[in-house]
Amino acid sequence: MSDNRAELYRSVLPFAQQQVAAIIDQHHGYFPIYTTGGKWYHGGELWTDWTGGFFAGQMWLLFQQSGDDCWRECAEYYSLLLKPRQHDRNVHDLGFIFLNTYLPWYRHTQDEEYREVLIQAGRTLAMRFQEKGNYLCSFISPESLFIDIMMNVPIIFYAGQQADDAELLEVAHAHCRTTRDTIVREDGSTAHEGIFDTETGKFLRQDTHQGLSAESAWARGLAWSLYGFSKVYALTGEKEYLDVAERNAAYWLDHLPEDNVPYWDFDADLQAELPWGPQKDSSAGAIAASGLLDLARQTDSPEKAGQYRETALAMLDALCSPDYLARDVTGWEGILRHGVYHTKKNLGVDESVMWGEFFFVEALCKYLLEADGKTVCTSLSPDQ
Ligand code: GLY
Repeated sequence: MSDNRAELYRSVLPFAQQQVAAIIDQHHGYFPIYTTGGKWYHGGELWTDWTGGFFAGQMWLLFQQSGDDCWRECAEYYSLLLKPRQHDRNVHDLGFIFLNTYLPWYRHTQDEEYREVLIQAGRTLAMRFQEKGNYLCSFISPESLFIDIMMNVPIIFYAGQQADDAELLEVAHAHCRTTRDTIVREDGSTAHEGIFDTETGKFLRQDTHQGLSAESAWARGLAWSLYGFSKVYALTGEKEYLDVAERNAAYWLDHLPEDNVPYWDFDADLQAELPWGPQKDSSAGAIAASGLLDLARQTDSPEKAGQYRETALAMLDALCSPDYLARDVTGWEGILRHGVYHTKKNLGVDESVMWGEFFFVEALCKYLLEADGKTVCTSLSPDQ
């Protein structure tokens, strides 16, 4: 490990702590999603309520990294507020919400109550399964499959393994295979959405909500796919999923701009004339960096392992620079600037976004903990 890099990453964590603590102090019990003009508290549209686990999850990461019980208390308080969501059938995001909160809580305490919440959340998410078509539908409608669900389906694998429930595992495998066969393209890029005929289950077309077009590669969607398939491989040991994650990684590495931070869509730099033009998405970079650190340990190829790790760290280094880290920007309440939520709806464009904050902190902690032979508290493996 480069000592300079460890020092750099370690130096960012007190700033992250300061920003998270300020939200807790100023807006106790509030779960922010994206900033407006750098401020978390505003009445802006949610679109969908999917990000609570990223705020509470940061507190679990900060507790693990610092060992400070104040962070554990905050993490428990905010995790408890999320508990009713284990039955929430309106979102496809229960993996985001519970694997970043109740998984660390269960690991820390071994308390059966928290394991039960994880299992229930997995069961609830599995209710989105469409027998015709073999996929978990998105919050939009039964005909719609989102690439984002790849980062949530791990909670169904986890629940299936913990509860020894073969049906849950079947649903989870079916969803992953349908995703791979319909919206992951041959070149490793991904479409945001797949549309199905709900009568016959036939796949109809690729589409998008948050990407530039049905044919483009929305950067965050690709990051969800890369990291999601990697997590599924970690849980199942099935090589077919590692292959998809590596295909996603190949596209990512080939198309990442020279400054190591992706545009919000890999075709966005060609759209300079559009109002959202060549906007970066630091959150996509943070997600992919954390995913690539895992993939570097999973791949069979030492050469690819080196490339994944090098790219992950180059992206993290870029995010730690003053261009992205908000440390020197007076009054900015987020950690990372230049993230994007929903470009076409003009929500959280060129702002801080809560998942960007979470995966940035996760990747920094992952790097620092690995040096001590430890695993970050949000990581997945079948034996934990
Ligand atoms: N809805 C998930 C995302 O914005 O990435």
